[in-house]
Amino acid sequence: MMLDVQELSVAFTDRQEPFTAVDKFSLQMDRGEIVGIVGESGSGKSMTAHALMGLIPRSRAAVTGRALFEGVDLLPLPREALRQYQGRDLSIIFQEPMTSLNPTMRIGKQVEEALFIHGKLSPGERKAKALAAMELAGLPDPEGLYRQYPHQLSGGMRQRVMIAAALVLRPRLLIADEPTTALDVTIQAQILDTLKDINRQEGTAILFISHDLGVVKALCSRVVVMKQGRIVETGPAEQVFHHPREDYTKLLIASRPSRKKLRGGGEHE
Ligand SMILES: Nc1ncnc2c1ncn2[C@@H]1O[C@H](COP(=O)(O)OP(=O)(O)OP(=O)(O)O)[C@@H](O)[C@H]1O
Ligand SMILES: [Mg+2]
Repeated sequence: MMLDVQELSVAFTDRQEPFTAVDKFSLQMDRGEIVGIVGESGSGKSMTAHALMGLIPRSRAAVTGRALFEGVDLLPLPREALRQYQGRDLSIIFQEPMTSLNPTMRIGKQVEEALFIHGKLSPGERKAKALAAMELAGLPDPEGLYRQYPHQLSGGMRQRVMIAAALVLRPRLLIADEPTTALDVTIQAQILDTLKDINRQEGTAILFISHDLGVVKALCSRVVVMKQGRIVETGPAEQVFHHPREDYTKLLIASRPSRKKLRGGGEHE
């Protein structure tokens, strides 16, 4: 088993009232699997992802439970030891693609960033790896884009740059936190196809976070439904989508605007 999360909890202590954002979250993932996490806004999806990546400062929250990656519990690791895993073994694409790219830095340098932390490569070797990752992320003309700045790219292209940066070290697990939410449906579908291709070609496991159960169904074999920090339902994506057990899951499915509704007009969001 690649990832074995046992009763992961995140309890924030930085506000007046202590707040449990993630409450005993458990999940097992094999290599090459694509698993989805769905749930309404505030249900704890991002905090689960951040906790797995070791991105929640210990001064702000107590992170408890276990998160075994290839048998090693990541949660108690000191910062330096954790850094060896970040980017190389597991990697994350953040929810806000526009704020995650540095506007003053060329695309190529941003894709290469993780390469500076892991190992000593020559500039030529770094560039080769960056171009390969950009190609894998479905960016046209990587060589040309390498020297450009984020503002010269469309939203979809910028998201592909984020994907390339996350993949540059070929991690075994990619955590994608609402990677397409800000994009229009056509671009969204294209990026989902790219993630599928990456999974097939590279065997990269993907933990895919979304509030949209329909998107998750198209991509994931299994899905975890979260509500108020807890898992309320989990199972094969087909089953959860077509035969949901929980009212909350039914609500999530119903809240997705259908094509029929959109055609009918007036009823959509
Ligand atoms: N520093 C903090 N202190 C206290 N509570 C916090 C802090 N950061 C986040 N939270 C709370 O944790 C809960 C879970 O947040 P999280 O970002 O994981 O939700 P989410 O499921 O990713 O939502 P969305 O779909 O909007 O991205 C929210 O209720 C949020 O207000
Ligand atoms: Mg979130």
